Amino acid sequence: MASSNRAQFSSRLGFILAAAGSAVGLGNIWGFPTQAASNGGAVFLITYLVMVFILAYPLLVAELTIGRFGASNPIRSLISVAPKHKLLGSAVGIAGMLGVSGILSFYAIVAGWFFGFLIGPLLSAFGFDSAAAWLEGFGIARNLVLMGVFMLLTVLVVRNGVADGIEKWSTRLMPVLFVLFIAMVGYTLLQPGAMEGLKMFLVPDMSHFSPDLMVSAMGQAFFSLSIGVCTMMVYGSYLRKDANLPKTAAQVALLDTGVAFVAGLLILPAMFVAQKNGVQIYSESGALLDGDTLVFSVLPAMFDTMGSAGLIVGVAFFALMVIAALTSSISMLEVPVACISEELDKDRKTVVWWVGGAIALFSSLIIFNFGSMFGTVISVTTEYVQPILGVIMALIAGWIWKRNEVLEELSHGNPELANSTFWKVWPTYVRVVCPILMALVFFWPLFK
Ligand code: PFF
Repeated sequence: MASSNRAQFSSRLGFILAAAGSAVGLGNIWGFPTQAASNGGAVFLITYLVMVFILAYPLLVAELTIGRFGASNPIRSLISVAPKHKLLGSAVGIAGMLGVSGILSFYAIVAGWFFGFLIGPLLSAFGFDSAAAWLEGFGIARNLVLMGVFMLLTVLVVRNGVADGIEKWSTRLMPVLFVLFIAMVGYTLLQPGAMEGLKMFLVPDMSHFSPDLMVSAMGQAFFSLSIGVCTMMVYGSYLRKDANLPKTAAQVALLDTGVAFVAGLLILPAMFVAQKNGVQIYSESGALLDGDTLVFSVLPAMFDTMGSAGLIVGVAFFALMVIAALTSSISMLEVPVACISEELDKDRKTVVWWVGGAIALFSSLIIFNFGSMFGTVISVTTEYVQPILGVIMALIAGWIWKRNEVLEELSHGNPELANSTFWKVWPTYVRVVCPILMALVFFWPLFK
């Protein structure tokens, strides 16, 4: 299947870091801890972990396997596993490409804000207070500029292709992220008030458990592992045949949940440290302030109370957010770029500018109509497009793709697979259990 000159990740570690880079992003570091904080802490953590392993992990294997088998862009890969259903394959590939472009269009706006909060304190440290205030305030021009800068960074990395762009930057940036993160957790846990947050995150209070919580935890697991919108499929297509897919997917899932867990160890204690320092984290009604308010007001307020170290910790935190966002956004942009450049046989260096430009244009539309579009695009892409395409991919892998081809593909890099427990369970699991579980995610809210 593979054309011999197709780009590949140059090492297994490079692939794992790139795929983990896609998975680890704003969703883990901010989305997960704030969801955990507002959904009972430890109970959300446990439900999320269960969802990752019973639902997201098996699907991650499916997406990666389809991608590696096809060794092409997602449209072609899907057609190659379902040759009698060309229309279905193309439709799912195109839907994934549009879905992931939609995700990138809001992601770039949010990542731009983080970029503003990274540069802002540095500018004010050098006396440029009004420029800093502009970057940290909410305005159309500021949103456009910051989104544009972030999209430009994404385009520049993706333009250089797989080994030289995506892999090089993911391998450099991911370890920096881990180190920065651990240092910040250590610092925060030593502050007064931190233990209260730690207790909330680690000691379960079952009274918080509800069906809604399960739905949120499932959604978070999907978003966090970048499932359903062909990102993992396109990365899988660049993966070498000697990699053991179930093992690689498990490593990626573990890294992703590991980072979400550490983010919880950072953010929940940090909230209570901030509260001890007089910062409001709960609204009058007793509910936690929402995610945006927390990250862009509570955390900088906490950094301020740290004296001169605060500037460094604050810059480190926002640098970390931008790094995490960038390794995710490059994986998103890769999907439409691979599809369009390969399907239309166009030079990737040209296509990347056109696609990046088109997505930036759509982001601008969202910025101009922020109130009506921002929340809608997030909800449509993450709550509907990701689960629906996820179900369809599970159905394709489980029902349409020939079982002997699946076995053969999974056996590359894992010759004993045919006799393993994984192979005894996984095919039926993605065929039956995953679609049922995912249908629940999708339909549950409709029956409330
Ligand atoms: N997994 C990323 C995060 O947690 O921030 C978001 C994401 C990346 C979603 C890539 C979808 C995607 F295709």
